[in-house]
Formats: sequence, structure tokens, C-alpha cells
Amino acid sequence: MHHRHTQFLPGQTWTDTHGQPIHAHGGGVLYHEGTYWWFGEHKVAGPDGNRAMVGVHVYASEDLLNWRDAGIALSVDERPDSEIEKGCIIERPKVLYNARTHRFVMWFHLEPKSAGMSYDGARSGVAVAERPEGPYRFLHSLRPNAGMWPENVQEADKAPLSAPEQVELARLELGGAPVPWYPRNRVYRRDLVSGQMARDMTLFLDVDGRAYHLYASENNGTLHVSLLDATFTRPAGRYVRVFPGRFHEAPALMRWNDRYWLFSSDCTGWAPNTARLSSAPQLWGPWTEHGNPCLGTGAQIANSFASQPTFVLPVQGRGDAFVYMADRWCPQNPIDGRYVWLPVRFRHGLPILEWCDAWSLDVFASAGAVVDE
Ligand code: GAL
Repeated sequence: MHHRHTQFLPGQTWTDTHGQPIHAHGGGVLYHEGTYWWFGEHKVAGPDGNRAMVGVHVYASEDLLNWRDAGIALSVDERPDSEIEKGCIIERPKVLYNARTHRFVMWFHLEPKSAGMSYDGARSGVAVAERPEGPYRFLHSLRPNAGMWPENVQEADKAPLSAPEQVELARLELGGAPVPWYPRNRVYRRDLVSGQMARDMTLFLDVDGRAYHLYASENNGTLHVSLLDATFTRPAGRYVRVFPGRFHEAPALMRWNDRYWLFSSDCTGWAPNTARLSSAPQLWGPWTEHGNPCLGTGAQIANSFASQPTFVLPVQGRGDAFVYMADRWCPQNPIDGRYVWLPVRFRHGLPILEWCDAWSLDVFASAGAVVDE
């Protein structure tokens, strides 16, 4: 029998309305016509559990605490020629509703099985559905912005790499981890023709109805903020590079106080690390880093409550109320990864995060924002 949840319990096993643990890792939430839809990676037990054996799971809720299992929104494919073949990698799925096409559009980080189990594919998968819960139909995968130069680089840096430059870059053996010799103005030039690498990602619907795709690009060293086209299924071809060489992963965006706020992580694989807060007056920038948004003990500050961001969820009808969503990964047994949801608080004009063992939406009551000046 389902026991009704009345509080968020960050880091503890979270069960759905059937008492089953929720499978929605690296997730995001869409609010649509009175219901919240939580999409995330369905992970399975054991060391291979990070591969997509099932697909993207979706849950529905009206109160953000009690979630109904709405099934598999996007299923992996048994056919070996499919780009989303069972055993591929599907991470960080996010969904937006497109009011023009009346379609729900899902983007995710895709590593096709054919790319082996490396993360070298660095592709974006796109799927669409007529209803929030799906079924989502896989449309295509791509590397964003093939043939397009970023808008915020100088003319002199809009040049494909020469053959000697390519050799030199290959010698650096950039994987996906920070290295001090990361070349800040090379990788996007290497990838002009193929399209830009895209791993950790989020989607963001702006107040003017435009949608953006934010992704860790250029061997994870540089974030891109990329406009989507009117259908939200392809890049529009306009993008900027943000924080070259800073290796921001796990981007999660919110808009508050006329600014865009970005929570992100450092780049250390599944191991938790020190979170980062950045902001900009517009999504195109200029972006400023503010440092670590986590307050607490030394360990909590250093490892962001042992978790990595995935999304910021605006609570409907509560003014400045936002829920910060993060994952506490469990790479040896991914099915047991936990969710760390915390209320975003505001201090001295900045969104910050503090640990709560247990909390409810009442923390947002009355004044709207939790402002502790
Ligand atoms: C993390 C990333 C996860 C996953 C993992 C693989 O840095 O945020 O989504 O890709 O690396 O090692």
C-alpha cells in the first residue's frame, strides 16, 4: 500500500505511488496543464546499469511529492540498426512542450551503441510525442550546429583547423576530463563540419517562447548555449560558447530576478564534486561565475551534498519558488542512485543551496521566495 509522502527526503530512496523506487535519474520536469511530468533515465542493477536497457521513464504528480508511474516515455529499440538500440547510452533527458506544433519534444545525450562504450559519440537525440507521457517517437540524432560558427568568437577564430593544427590537437589526447593544456580556441574549429560535441545537457524555455539547448561541448571543456528552431527539434544555428576551458558539466538553468542562473558541476565523471553558480543578464551572456552555491559543512560544500545537478524546477503559482534537483549517482549499482532535491534559497541577491534532511513546499509559503538576507 502506498504511503503518502508529505516531505522531500533528499538522498533517501523515493518511492512512487505503488511503493516502487522511482527510476528517473539525470531527470527534468515539465509542467503541463496542472501536472508535473518527471522524465529521467531508467537505470538497472549492476555495473552495466548505466546503459539504456529500458529507456526514459516518466512519472506524473500534482504535488511534486507523490509520483504516479506513467511508464516508459521513450523505449530503447531491439533492432541493431537503431540509433537508440538497447544497450546504448541515453542520459539527462529533458522535455519541452511546443505550443506552436502542440508536440512534446525530448532531447537527451546519446551515445549510440555502435560508438562502443566510450563517450566519443557525444550526440544529441531528439524524440517527439503527442502527449506528455508519450510514447515518444525517435526522430534523429545529431551533433549540434554543424557548419555554423559560434556568435561570440572573433572573425580571426572562424577558421577550420589546418592539417598541422589537427595533428597537433589529436596529440593532446583530450578525453573528457580537465587538463591544463586544454586549447581554448581549437576544438569547436575541429568540429565545424561534423557538428559540435554535446554531452551533459539541459533544455530551457525562455519567457519569449524561444527554446535553448545547453550542452557540455568541445571535449567537455566549454558549454554551448544554442537556440532551437521553431519546432524545437533542431538547432536554429545560433549559439555561443561559454566559459571555454572551465569544464562545466551538468547544466541546470533558472530565470530569477531578471537574470539567468546556471547551476553546474565540475567535471569528474560519476564522482560528486564542487558545484558552480553562474549568471547572465541574457542567455547569450555575458556569463559570470559566482563560485560555489552550496552552504554547509566542509564536505557538503566540497561535494555539493554528494550530488550533481540535473535541473531546476519552478514551482507553479508560488512566485520565486524553485526546486533544485540533483543526482547522487551509484555507478556500481546505478539502480540505487538517489535524488537530492532541495529548495533554492536566496541570499544577498544570489540563489544558494543548503542541506535539509526533510522539507516540504511550505518553505516557500507566504512571501514566495525564501529570502534570508
Ligand atoms: C558525468 C555526467 C553524467 C555521466 C557520467 C559518465 O560527469 O554528468 O551524466 O555522463 O559523467 O561518467
